[in-house]
Amino acid sequence: MIIAIDGPAGAGKSTVAKIIAQRMGFIYIDTGAMYRALTLKALEQGIDVNQAERVVELAVGTRIELYNDASGNLTVLLDGKDVSAQIRQPRITRFVSDVAKIPGVREVMLGLQRALAKTGNVVLDGRDIGTVVFPGADKKFYIDAAFKERVRRRYNELKEAGEAVTLGNIEADLANRDTIDSTRECAPLKKADDAIYIDTTEMNIEEVAAKIKTWINL
Ligand code: DC
Repeated sequence: MIIAIDGPAGAGKSTVAKIIAQRMGFIYIDTGAMYRALTLKALEQGIDVNQAERVVELAVGTRIELYNDASGNLTVLLDGKDVSAQIRQPRITRFVSDVAKIPGVREVMLGLQRALAKTGNVVLDGRDIGTVVFPGADKKFYIDAAFKERVRRRYNELKEAGEAVTLGNIEADLANRDTIDSTRECAPLKKADDAIYIDTTEMNIEEVAAKIKTWINL
């Protein structure tokens, strides 16, 4: 079974996808983590993320692996090295949408995501899972929340991780990513026609998980 969860940054997708995967014994595939890992490699190698050809070349020669442990934690390996924490840093977040808008990069990731999903029952979260990667997914969800609430959640998350951030930074970053992710030509963020729309602005994560679970069991 394939469960697709799409939506903008900060809507709560990854937290809920992780909970669903854990409760159902499914594998969780965080597709954003793949774009983040590639962004990290590009920055480490001093590659300008606007040089599409170089970034695609880099993507082709990069090994990205995702592992879930029993408690639902995700490990991301970039060419064999654990980069799980590094890929969440603000410097990666700043450039990841520019990397993710490159069609050749998306092609590489698409292949990787489809191959990973062959392993069995999976929950994938991202921007284009229900529209492009798995248009035939068994269940599709589009998780959304009001902009201000998404900013608040991201801010709390990063504060907890010990990052020096301000609400103003997060607001600018989210607005920028929303624009790039939803207006790019290749596989923009969009609700699939047959996805179930959930506005999580006034919901806590348990309520969202319960709602999704109900739809899955229908
Ligand atoms: O979900 P996230 O914040 O980790 O995603 C990081 C970026 O990757 C996001 O700005 C858009 C991009 N992304 C994408 O284009 N397609 C996906 N399936 C997942 C993420």
